[in-house]
Amino acid sequence: MQRPDFNIEEVNKIIRGRRSMFVAQFKENDPVEDSIIEEILENARWAPTHKLTQPWQFIVYTGEGLKKFGQYQADMYKLRAEKNGTPFLEGTYQKFLDNPQKASHVIAILMKRSEGIPLMEEISATAMAVQNMYLTASAHGLAAYWGTGGPTFWQEARPDFGLEGEDILMGFFYIAKPATDNWPEGKRDSLDEKVAWIRE
Ligand SMILES: Cc1cc2nc3c(=O)[nH]c(=O)nc-3n(C[C@H](O)[C@H](O)[C@H](O)COP(=O)(O)O)c2cc1C
Repeated sequence: MQRPDFNIEEVNKIIRGRRSMFVAQFKENDPVEDSIIEEILENARWAPTHKLTQPWQFIVYTGEGLKKFGQYQADMYKLRAEKNGTPFLEGTYQKFLDNPQKASHVIAILMKRSEGIPLMEEISATAMAVQNMYLTASAHGLAAYWGTGGPTFWQEARPDFGLEGEDILMGFFYIAKPATDNWPEGKRDSLDEKVAWIRE
């Protein structure tokens, strides 16, 4: 295969310009076309993966599915408070119920573990798939973010997502059209604080 004709300026622009946008910035009741979501998932599939285990799995909630997912996580939040004595706040319950419906699509990110490579590599590969989703969403000018709230760390939720053994629910990728033309400012520490060069 011939080397593709990459455009480094565009690559830099999308990597550095990619931003998270949250539910408050979502344009409600104006769904993104499924074909764009399919493109986002197609790009997820091309993340690097050690031994080609391709550990990512996705569940896409949209339409009535968002309502169902909201009800599911709100009910579980309440049940946990009743059964485990975890805190219960009416406002949090309402957010679990309502937030998914403010998105166009919510994608559950699952890591399905294969034998033979360290867990860290499977988590990393899945996170790289999510980065591809983020970049593709931003390139479409969409509002999107990776959230690790709700059922992400709830043990009781594991069977509902078909998780076994060392499989992990890695959170939810929320996607919507943005309610604003403004794009968030990025903020990062300087590279000097993150890099050591050894030259001799
Ligand atoms: C693994 C992971 C989990 C995250 N979980 C949350 C979350 O639960 N809630 C949230 O508001 N943002 C979450 N984020 C998004 C970050 O808040 C966001 O990436 C950060 O503020 C930097 O902003 P930027 O993405 O626009 O560069 C998560 C990001 C990653 C990589």
